[in-house]
Amino acid sequence: MRVLVVAGARPNFIKVAPILRALHAAGDEAVLVHTGQHYDDRMSDAFFRDLGMAPADFHLGVGSGSHAEQTARVMVAFEPVLLQVRPEWVVVVGDVNSTLACALVAAKQDESVGCRVAHVEAGLRSGDWRMPEEVNRVLTDRLADLLLTPSRDALHNLRAEGIAEERVRFVGNVMIDTLFAQLESARARDAAGAMGLPRGGYALATLHRPSNVDSPDALGAVLGALRQVAASTPVVLPLHPRTRARAREFGLEGLLEGLHVLEPVGYTDMLSLVDGAAVVLTDSGGVQEETTALGVPCVTLREQTERPVTVTEGTNRLAPWPLTADGVVSSFRAAQARGRRPDGVPGPEGWDGAAAERIVHALHALARTDGAAGF
Ligand code: UD1
Ligand code: UDP
Repeated sequence: MRVLVVAGARPNFIKVAPILRALHAAGDEAVLVHTGQHYDDRMSDAFFRDLGMAPADFHLGVGSGSHAEQTARVMVAFEPVLLQVRPEWVVVVGDVNSTLACALVAAKQDESVGCRVAHVEAGLRSGDWRMPEEVNRVLTDRLADLLLTPSRDALHNLRAEGIAEERVRFVGNVMIDTLFAQLESARARDAAGAMGLPRGGYALATLHRPSNVDSPDALGAVLGALRQVAASTPVVLPLHPRTRARAREFGLEGLLEGLHVLEPVGYTDMLSLVDGAAVVLTDSGGVQEETTALGVPCVTLREQTERPVTVTEGTNRLAPWPLTADGVVSSFRAAQARGRRPDGVPGPEGWDGAAAERIVHALHALARTDGAAGF
């Protein structure tokens, strides 16, 4: 079976690594297409190195731009690759612009191409249509032939949208496959120790959601809150390029003083930092999941989460919204007081390191035998 796998942005690389491995192990032909949505070494190549991935078979080099520009560039560049490769499946992951763009191109091919679309991480919903990711999720799920869900709640969301259940398979969380595969080397790394920070003696923060960083008021409030946390506990902040650019543009770089600001870090260092943190403060989707898998307390700096199991079954909590310094500090204190989940308590169902195998199994089970498209 020939499977074309799409990745474009940082969290995608972490999700596709185990899928590619599982496809190879099953004897399938895997073709990796990197759209180039993320392109800095620290946002892209560093992950290929850390995760031991071979370079992509095709690189579309689309780069940054408005949503329309970026999505359109991916579509235009992806179509000829798809027509050349002619895979049985196109696998898209997550909720970034590259995910939707490639799903849309693949879904519109006619019978002569005959590929089908599988969406990994289907069915997550924030209910917030202002988030570009929510638009990408809903539309990708509508386009996909096979919807592979990371948690049981996703099926309820899909049912509510009228998506036929026979298109949906619960496979668990593929990002956690990578976490378990890399945990030993991350623990050997001790990235915080290299900065003079003891295990459990610092908070780790990440920020990049447009709602937190794209206006001076929002970015000022959230950085102000991190500074208050830093008054009692050192705060490590690997800075996303979007956030770095906005802080500069809004003249807010002064608010970064007093924080341990880093360039974006590679996966192994990041996992080491998450694992050793007293508390993580984040607006990232993936980091909410990783803290839950590790049992590290997490404060999510968002109005809602599309990953509710990280709250109901995990170690995540939402900071009071709208964010204020007092609200974030009191959530931080509560999370710190709760501490790490004791070892041996299981994480959410299917967050077990074997999601990629279940994904490949689902692709095989529905492999085309008769040339018929879709379900
Ligand atoms: C994108 C995804 C978001 C995901 C995030 C992961 C969409 C709509 N957003 O957001 O869901 O959580 O990736 O990190 O797809 N930039 C660089 N170097 C890079 C990449 C980006 O400097 O390698 C800068 C550019 O100024 C760019 C900005 O970051 O304009 C935003 O990049 P973009 O990919 O558009 O969105 P992200 O905020 O990264
Ligand atoms: N990550 C990383 N280095 C960083 C920040 C994040 O390796 O400096 C990892 C993080 O551990 C998780 C993934 O990147 O595995 C999440 O990506 P991001 O927060 O950019 O996107 P989201 O998950 O919000 O879409």
